[in-house]
Amino acid sequence: MMENQEKKKIVLSAIQPTGTPTLGNYLGALKNWKNMANDYNCLYAVADLHSITVRPEPADLRRRTLEMYALLLAIGLDPEKSIVFIQSMVPEHAQLAWILDCYTQFGEASRMTQFKDKSEKHPDNVNVGLFAYPVLMAADILLYQTDFVPIGADQKQHLEITRDIAERFNGLYGNTFKIPEPFIGKAGARVMSLQDPSKKMSKSDTNVKGFISMLDDDNVIMKKIKSAVTDSEARVYFGDGKDGVNNLMGIYSCCTGKSFEEIEQEFDGRGYGDFKTAVGEAVIEELRPVKEEYARLINDKAYLMQCAASGAEKASCFASRTLKKAMKKVGFIQLDK
Ligand code: TYM
Repeated sequence: MMENQEKKKIVLSAIQPTGTPTLGNYLGALKNWKNMANDYNCLYAVADLHSITVRPEPADLRRRTLEMYALLLAIGLDPEKSIVFIQSMVPEHAQLAWILDCYTQFGEASRMTQFKDKSEKHPDNVNVGLFAYPVLMAADILLYQTDFVPIGADQKQHLEITRDIAERFNGLYGNTFKIPEPFIGKAGARVMSLQDPSKKMSKSDTNVKGFISMLDDDNVIMKKIKSAVTDSEARVYFGDGKDGVNNLMGIYSCCTGKSFEEIEQEFDGRGYGDFKTAVGEAVIEELRPVKEEYARLINDKAYLMQCAASGAEKASCFASRTLKKAMKKVGFIQLDK
């Protein structure tokens, strides 16, 4: 497949199986994954190796990994067209990560804001994996000579360290890794909490009204949007001090394709009630086909496992080329010539 489309640019991204993804994951990343699938050679992974940094229950991890895999197919990724795989099934990721660990400085990894946030949140389990997490992410990306990485704004710093590591390695050993570019959409890059629009929407929010899960029922979605925090001005426009409205406008824009000017015109002279109803309906319509397809797929475990096996095999075929190249450069003896 990728062989006869060699000229297309390569896209890779991944998502952790830490529970049902939110509307933020969807609009910030997954929707772009789907949109890019026609124009690029795409690889999409369920990043289960990353997930054990927070020590999930083994049975939960297994279930969530398969659920996330099903959800990736449900958003419309075609496993015949894109390589959709589970990270731990492709051992090259962990292998390259170790090599890259040795080309990453303690200081630069310490500066990662996600590491600082997570170690503050879980002071009882600040493990080395959590610290090395961005290096594993760099391995994910660099293994495939990736051109573009569709992500939300919160992952931008990890992309920057990936580029730094790749440039350092290339500088020492000659061209080994393609230097990847982030692909961050305009409107959905940072979907904020519906209850506190100064914080990003996150499934770990203790207030469930702050986030919409991709599999929430229609009436739950509408209720959450209706109770979203706005302001007392009752005018729909994008502006300073209007974080709640700005966020809803971003969500509406992503779901309908309308620009901010069009949205301002549409709701000119109308209050927040009408606006919120329209946003709720747009989100419900956006997620409806995904939920329907998910309900069908999640009951077909045999099919999912078959797709996962074939995805892992295809991914490994590409990953092993880069891994071999890197191992040779570092000085490891190779058995096959
Ligand atoms: P993760 O699993 O936290 O999130 C998956 C994707 O969703 C985006 N995202 C958001 N976008 C907009 N608004 C939000 N509120 C929001 N919340 C999450 C994230 O930016 C991400 O793109 N480390 C990564 C997974 C990963 C990866 C990779 C990504 C592992 N290897 C290689 C790209 C390439 C993570 O934890 O994402």
